Amino acid sequence: MHIQSEAPEIIEGNRPPANWPFVGKVEMKDLKIRYCPNTSLVLRGIRCTFEGGYTVGIVGRTGSGKSTLISALFRLVEPTEGAIFIDDLTISTVGIHDLRSHLAIIPQDPMLFGGSIRYNLNPLSEHSDHDIREANQMLITLLIG
Ligand SMILES: Nc1ncnc2c1ncn2[C@@H]1O[C@H](COP(=O)(O)OP(=O)(O)OP(=O)(O)O)[C@@H](O)[C@H]1O
Ligand SMILES: [Mg+2]
Repeated sequence: MHIQSEAPEIIEGNRPPANWPFVGKVEMKDLKIRYCPNTSLVLRGIRCTFEGGYTVGIVGRTGSGKSTLISALFRLVEPTEGAIFIDDLTISTVGIHDLRSHLAIIPQDPMLFGGSIRYNLNPLSEHSDHDIREANQMLITLLIG
């Protein structure tokens, strides 16, 4: 009951364009993250740019902060200092629903819901069958390719 709630879902007047991210350039500017007050920094001033359209691997030994970096993109953990820009938009200025619904993550251990492939691809009934078929085709191509 005493835990502070997350940032607002949507911030009217500061909503990203529907087609954002346009190319997917991600810039981290002096990103510092700690999980709790009075604990040491887990990320200590990360500065880097990932250009859009590339596949990038991040390596580092266990506990070095790889998952923390990805969590920061979704604002599962908020930076203590610094900022993340995706296609020149500071992600901390938009609502978390707007941020998270425009990004996708494929976790290490994928999960399927009980039900059809259609339901798994479109659990919130947001897309047409045509779009699902296209996405499915792309997925199959990726898996085979
Ligand atoms: N929810 C959390 N609360 C407090 N500390 C955390 C939390 N999650 C991670 N940490 C700490 O942050 C540091 C970075 O952990 P993180 O999980 O980001 O590393 P990682 O590089 O993904 O490791 P692995 O290769 O094992 O997945 C570690 O010291 C970890 O103990
Ligand atoms: Mg990890």
